[in-house]
Amino acid sequence: MQAGTPERPKDNNGHSQSSALLVTFFLVSFLPLRILVTVICMPDFKLSASLEGHGDDVRAVAFPNPNAVFSASRDGTVRLWKLVSSSPPTYDYTITAHGQAFINSLAYFPPTPEFPEGLSLSGGQDTIIEARQPGKTASDNADAMLLGHGHNICALDVSHDGGWIVSGSWDSTARLWNVGHWETEKVLGEHGGSVWAVLAYDKNTIITGCADQMIRIFDTSGNLRGSVKNSNDVVRALCKVPPSNPTGAHFASASNDGIIRLYTLEGRLVASLHGHESFVYSLAALPSGELVSSGEDRTVRVWNGTQCVQTITHPAISVWSVAACSENGDIVTGASDRITRVFTRSPDRVAAPEAVQQFEEAVKGSAIPAEQVGKINKEQLPGPEFLQQKSGTKEGQVQMIRETDGSVTAHTWSSATQEWIAVGTVVESAGSSGRKTEYLGQDYDYVFDVDIEDGKPPLKLPYNVSQNPYEAATKFIGDNELPMSYLDQVASFITQNTQGATLGQAEEPTPAGGDPWGTERRYRPGDAANEAAQQPIPEPRPQVLPQKTYLSIKSANLKVISKKLQEINDKLLSEGPKEVTLTSSEVDALAALCGQLESGKQLADSPILENGVPLIFRIATSWPVANRLPGLDLLRLLAAAAPFVATTEYNGDNLVAVLLGSGIFDAPLNANNAMLSVRTFANLFETTAGRDLAISSFDQILAGVRSALSNAADNRNLTIAVTTLFINFAVYITSDGRENSPGSAEKALVLLEDLTKIIANEKDSEAIYRGLVAVGTLVKALGTEVKSAAKEVYEIDRVLSRVSGSGPGKEPRVKGIIGEMREAL
Ligand SMILES: *[C@@H]1O[C@H](CO)[C@@H](O)[C@H](O)[C@H]1NC(C)=O
Ligand SMILES: *[C@@H]1O[C@H](CO)[C@@H](O)[C@H](O)[C@H]1NC(C)=O
Ligand SMILES: *[C@@H]1O[C@H](CO)[C@@H](O)[C@H](O)[C@H]1NC(C)=O
Repeated sequence: MQAGTPERPKDNNGHSQSSALLVTFFLVSFLPLRILVTVICMPDFKLSASLEGHGDDVRAVAFPNPNAVFSASRDGTVRLWKLVSSSPPTYDYTITAHGQAFINSLAYFPPTPEFPEGLSLSGGQDTIIEARQPGKTASDNADAMLLGHGHNICALDVSHDGGWIVSGSWDSTARLWNVGHWETEKVLGEHGGSVWAVLAYDKNTIITGCADQMIRIFDTSGNLRGSVKNSNDVVRALCKVPPSNPTGAHFASASNDGIIRLYTLEGRLVASLHGHESFVYSLAALPSGELVSSGEDRTVRVWNGTQCVQTITHPAISVWSVAACSENGDIVTGASDRITRVFTRSPDRVAAPEAVQQFEEAVKGSAIPAEQVGKINKEQLPGPEFLQQKSGTKEGQVQMIRETDGSVTAHTWSSATQEWIAVGTVVESAGSSGRKTEYLGQDYDYVFDVDIEDGKPPLKLPYNVSQNPYEAATKFIGDNELPMSYLDQVASFITQNTQGATLGQAEEPTPAGGDPWGTERRYRPGDAANEAAQQPIPEPRPQVLPQKTYLSIKSANLKVISKKLQEINDKLLSEGPKEVTLTSSEVDALAALCGQLESGKQLADSPILENGVPLIFRIATSWPVANRLPGLDLLRLLAAAAPFVATTEYNGDNLVAVLLGSGIFDAPLNANNAMLSVRTFANLFETTAGRDLAISSFDQILAGVRSALSNAADNRNLTIAVTTLFINFAVYITSDGRENSPGSAEKALVLLEDLTKIIANEKDSEAIYRGLVAVGTLVKALGTEVKSAAKEVYEIDRVLSRVSGSGPGKEPRVKGIIGEMREAL
């Protein structure tokens, strides 16, 4: 018997990792006799089919009928798997949607007269929900693109009766959309964080689960009807509890603390389901009234009432999603090993014996990283005879065994079969297994996958334990043209993940079936900032201050912008004012410019640029205020991509002067226009000419920003843009020898005054974090004059204490930066 304190697994969605450190104790009672289960309820689920094809984690699944399964993946595709033959079941897939970015959520809307095959709905990083009839292929146009969310879409559900769809996003809203109408019907605000889960409870009721740990109940008019605080952890999933469930609950929620809670609509907690050893990501209800759940402990669990009746371990790190077929009660799972799996209780639909055996072998052969299990005192572990002599006490209970060859294996108890099932071998680390990984024709001890930019394929970081981690990190950054600000972070990642490994050591046996974990170790520098960051911002490990590189906000969907622009132009042509519209050759010129922008590189002067920029400027300043968005959006992208934007004249003046002169920051404020203008100013720092313009317009820009902030009511988008701009000003005045110039200190004091006010009044953690990076850069890099002004005039201590005591102050990155600032002061 032993106790383990596993490291909390990495939350791939960028959420706080320390807030709910799970401490798991594996407890086994030594029962003298096996107690036979007398009531056999339902047969166990067995593998029915393994659906292979996705190139990356399967993040969401749907199971609309016994003949069709949908899966959505980080590989940017949605696949429809159709049953083509039975016993054993086999499936063929078609790719029904193909995008550039991670697809993270999926739902199926059942058939209607207008859409006789129903609709598949998918959403993810590109912030667009696509609605498609399943018979279409990826090359056909979607039936609808639902635009409105400002960040990753992580949850979708539908009400067939109500004819609506509900979506949840990292932008802290849920949205309600009517099928066929395809525009946001209602924005369900009031959320204090990402909306991780949405549930179409009935045709009049929507329930949301949020990273602010609250469950909210809304009606379809958008009124908040009630809310429940879900323990002290974020809500990751929701499902409706069927009336036949013995608890009498109406809905269930799952959380990062590993507990599933069952509530009535009135918010009364009626039961808690304990068993998962890590985050629970997904919930579904079976037609039998039972619930199923999946999570980061690589299991799917089946719950009869409050009793876990089956645990299905997967050969993967995360089981992201589980869905049930309401007709036959089969379930489907999507996991980080890229496989979608169907499980069944019906003997008719079980996979071929070889396939079942292959699955069991893969589970048994899984390598479980030692850090996931915690410290094991090998000497005190029982030997393999334990498995024959002792029973477990509870479904899904874990037991570690010291095998005769010295390795440590993990086993879980199955109460249905009254057996221990082997679920993997504990391995020290990928490197110590003595195996080498090949990269570009050379052998390395490790090849890590590094996700630098959302939606782009991961970059490979090869590493030999004989190398200096800093040299490997420097080469990696150089090879991939990354900012040097990642250096410390990448180097410390290498150190942490290769700890203790020395050249050529091979202490632990190589597990049978390879090491599926090795390839899945993923490092995502942007994770902590993902919540709101348009661009990854390094986590504060080991030190972020002073910030040395400029940040820009460049992510965009140019196709959508270009489409929107044409739509508005058409509308203006028919409804006026006609004099500001574009001719068809001007529309073509802009399409060409969008094409160039799509490359993401800096653009050299060219006729395309010289003709396009004045047109964009015209849209941004002379179209009706509510229609300027696409012009301003292009302007901010061009500000980062083309020095020409900063050097050219518009009506005889420079870009900053004319934008400010167009009244963009005046009341009544259009917050989106203001935000995009601030982003434009921030992006100017990407080019030398842009920096010169921004810094020479410092006073005017600051006056404009103040006016925008005072005319906007609590708009986090605007505040994030402003704090990003301030970081760039701070980087500028503290670099290239400017840190000692009197002009720098003067500007720093102005920035400090504005920043301390922003931070003191802000609730959004991304905005606060960015504000702190700006202030921290100033106080760390500049002289005593600035430090003492920060302390005495702007009472920075008080501001930091306030942040420490607030919600965002609990985030490791915020804690880290406050620590660094206190040290610098
Ligand atoms: C759930 O458990 C109860 C009590 O053991 C049993 O009577 C019932 O049939 C079970 N339900 C299902 C769906 O297996
Ligand atoms: C933030 O921006 C997104 C678009 O980028 C928008 O959908 C969302 O409503 C904005 N939030 C606020 C509070 O304005
Ligand atoms: C990495 O180390 C191994 C020896 O462990 C060596 O064979 C291999 O060539 C090294 N790779 C590189 C790229 O230096």
